[in-house]
Amino acid sequence: MRAVVHDRYGPPEVLRVAEIERPELKEDEVLVRVHASTVTRGDAMGVRHVEYKLIRVFTGIRRPRRTSAGTEFAGRVEDVGPAVSEFRVGDDVFGIKVGSNAEYVTVRESSAIAPKPTGLTFEEAAAVPDGSLLALTCLRPARPLQGKRVLVYGAAGSIGTAAVQLLAHHFEAELTAVCDTKDVELVRSLGARHALDRFREDFTQNGETYDVIFDAVGKHSFRRCRRSLKPGGVYITADLGFMYHVPLVALVTRFAGGRRARLGIGRYRKEDLLLIKELVDAGKYRPVIDRRYALDEVVEATRYVETGRKTGNVVLRVSEAAPASKPDCAAKHRQEVPA
Ligand SMILES: NC(=O)c1ccc[n+]([C@@H]2O[C@H](COP(=O)([O-])OP(=O)(O)OC[C@H]3O[C@@H](n4cnc5c(N)ncnc54)[C@H](OP(=O)(O)O)[C@@H]3O)[C@@H](O)[C@H]2O)c1
Repeated sequence: MRAVVHDRYGPPEVLRVAEIERPELKEDEVLVRVHASTVTRGDAMGVRHVEYKLIRVFTGIRRPRRTSAGTEFAGRVEDVGPAVSEFRVGDDVFGIKVGSNAEYVTVRESSAIAPKPTGLTFEEAAAVPDGSLLALTCLRPARPLQGKRVLVYGAAGSIGTAAVQLLAHHFEAELTAVCDTKDVELVRSLGARHALDRFREDFTQNGETYDVIFDAVGKHSFRRCRRSLKPGGVYITADLGFMYHVPLVALVTRFAGGRRARLGIGRYRKEDLLLIKELVDAGKYRPVIDRRYALDEVVEATRYVETGRKTGNVVLRVSEAAPASKPDCAAKHRQEVPA
C-alpha cells in the first residue's frame, strides 16, 4: 500500500510516499481503507522534533522509531477480525490512528473509531477527530462551564475552532474568541458570542475578566493573562510553553491558591469520539477545512501546517476515488475557507 513515511527527523522534505506492507489484521481490529486523512500541527512537529528535542527520548533519539505519519482518518471498513462485533465490512468510519497518512490502517475496535457522521464526506470527517478530542479533553477538567465567561485565544486553529464550537454548543459557556482579523466572522459563525481581533484589541488590557482562559495555541502566558482571570479563574494552555515551564507554573499555582494555570492534556477516547459524532449529527459541530492536498503533496501540506497560520484543518486526499456510499448532504455543515 502507499503510505507517507520518514526515516529521519528534519524539514517537511524528509517525508515521502512509499510502497509499504499493508498492516496485518488482529482479531480485535478492523481494517480500514483510508479515503482521507489530515496533517495536524502535531504531525508536522513530529517530523522535525526540533522545538521539543527532549521528546526524542520517547520517539527515538537519532532517528524516529515510528516512521509512519498521520493521526486521523476517515474511510471504509474492508475487513474485520473475528472478535469484532461493532463494525461490519462496508461501514464508513472515522477516528484516530497513528500512521493514518496511508491507504490502509488497522484499528482496535475499542479505540477511538466510530461510525462516520452521515452528513459529512470522507474529507470533512477526517478533519474532525484530532482537534475536537484535544479541545474536549483539555476543557473538561474546568467543568462546570455552563454560563461561565470563557475566552479562547488562538480560536481559529484546529483546536481553537473545535474549542469554540464545544464551548458554545456543548458546554454552553459565554464565549469570547480571540483570533486574526481574517477569521473573526468564522469564529462568530461557529458560536462565539464575542469575537476579538487580536491585532486590534489586547484582551489583557480591556478590563474584562474571565472564569477560564483557554490558550488553544500556547502562544500566550499565565503571567500576561493573570489579571484577566477572575479570582479562582484558570488559564489552560494546550502547549508546554517555552522551556517546558507550564507544568511547573501549574504546580506552583495549584498550591498557592487563587488564580491557576493548567496544562491541557489531550486524550483520544472512543466514548468522546461518539459524543463528537452526536454533536455533528445534531448540527452542533462542523469541521473547518482550510486547504486540501493529494497524498503525494504531503510535503507542501506539511510546509503549510508548519507556518502555524492555518485556519482549522489541512486535509490529505488519500484515495481519489472515494465513493460516496451515503447521500452527501454535507452542504449545510461545510465551512470552506479560501486558501
Ligand atoms: N495539549 C495537547 O495534548 C496537545 C496535543 C497536540 C497539539 N498540541 C498543541 O496545540 C497547539 C495548537 O494546535 P493546533 O493544531 O490547533 O494549531 P494550528 O491549527 O496550527 O493553529 C493555527 C492557528 O494559530 C494561530 N496563531 C498562530 N500564532 C499565533 C499567535 N502568536 N497568537 C495567537 N494565535 C496564533 C493562527 O492564527 P493567525 O492566522 O492569526 O496567525 C492560526 O489560526 C500547538 O501548539 C500544539 O503543539 C497540544
